[in-house]
Amino acid sequence: MSTSSSQSRSPMVWPMATLALALAAGVGGWVVGGSGTTPPAAVAPVEAAATAGASTAPPVPEKPKAWPLEAPDPATIPEGPVGDAVRRGQALVSRTREELPEHVGNGLHCTSCHLEGGTVANAGPWIGITGVFPEFRTRNAKVNVLQDRVNDCFERSMDGKPLPADSEEMTAIVAYMTWLSEGVPSGVPIEGRGFARIKEPPTPDPEHGKALYGERCVACHGAEGAGLEGPDAAYVYPALWGNRSFNIAAGMSRLDTAAAFVRWNMPLGQGGTLTDQEAYDLAAYFTTQPRPDFARKGEDWPNGGKPRDARY
Ligand code: HEC
Ligand code: HEC
Repeated sequence: MSTSSSQSRSPMVWPMATLALALAAGVGGWVVGGSGTTPPAAVAPVEAAATAGASTAPPVPEKPKAWPLEAPDPATIPEGPVGDAVRRGQALVSRTREELPEHVGNGLHCTSCHLEGGTVANAGPWIGITGVFPEFRTRNAKVNVLQDRVNDCFERSMDGKPLPADSEEMTAIVAYMTWLSEGVPSGVPIEGRGFARIKEPPTPDPEHGKALYGERCVACHGAEGAGLEGPDAAYVYPALWGNRSFNIAAGMSRLDTAAAFVRWNMPLGQGGTLTDQEAYDLAAYFTTQPRPDFARKGEDWPNGGKPRDARY
């Protein structure tokens, strides 16, 4: 059943062999019809393969820059052990504090920021995420697999501890993200990936941000930014600062990231009603309130590339 759903969402697929052949043929075009031009040295080794495949290979398909974001139908979660893992992963990311207290130092869930189970554009969607990792990240100057990226959010956004890469919990989280990503071509980011940065960042006014906070945010996130705790240590509204919030090394601690998140997603249910300036004023206010530290922050950006809005 998952196969048919992935086919219906995937009019274009990229089998590696076809792609390699097509690329080779494309490169070889000038060789076959060659008019005596000297080939660039770097391309020369492909020549033989290219000539062999040239007559039958299809033209090089143009890879889309982004793929339309479409949340899968929950009915497509398969029966059996894989489906069980997908459902377990969904529970872990949406009740993270309660399900994984050993790994979560604050009061948040993954879905406090990755809204609606990671299915919302410009709110860190996970649809298509399995196809865009591994990825090189300047923050640790390494190639990161998806599990590394998940653990980054455990240590920073959740102010907690990483999950062992081979744990049942990590497997479940990856299974959930894999199900979300079904049908999205490998290597193609989803539309609305990340948090849609504001293109021309205005100069923020944190004092105005404080006043706005009192008008637009305080009803849910509270005067002390501590949110509102529910009966079973779960939150009704999550904390924006203090020890139940994300730590200083989290992406949300950065001005540009926080402003973008708030611009498109807050106040909850009224995303898009704030101006760029208001989003920056608010972000400048709440990101600089007291929050947990991160012991290993000195190890970040070992080879440079520190963004302009890093907090340390
Ligand atoms: C306080 C907010 C917050 C929480 C809570 C949070 N994250 Fe994130 N997450 C972010 C930010 C910010 C980014 C960086 C997005 C960007 O690059 O623009 C991110 C990025 C990611 C990415 C990579 C997304 C991409 O497009 O490259 C994954 C995967 C991820 N988070 C998983 C998780 C998981 C799993 C949890 C729970 C254990 C979690 N996050 C909790 C804020 C959060
Ligand atoms: C109607 C209640 C409500 C209002 C008003 C509101 N939020 Fe939120 N906010 C939430 C909820 C609920 C979440 C978590 C989403 C979830 O759990 O699905 C959230 C999440 C967040 C997060 C990410 C999680 C965290 O705790 O860091 C930030 C940042 C945030 N809100 C900022 C703001 C700002 C700034 C304003 C004012 C412009 C605002 N919110 C107004 C309800 C609200």
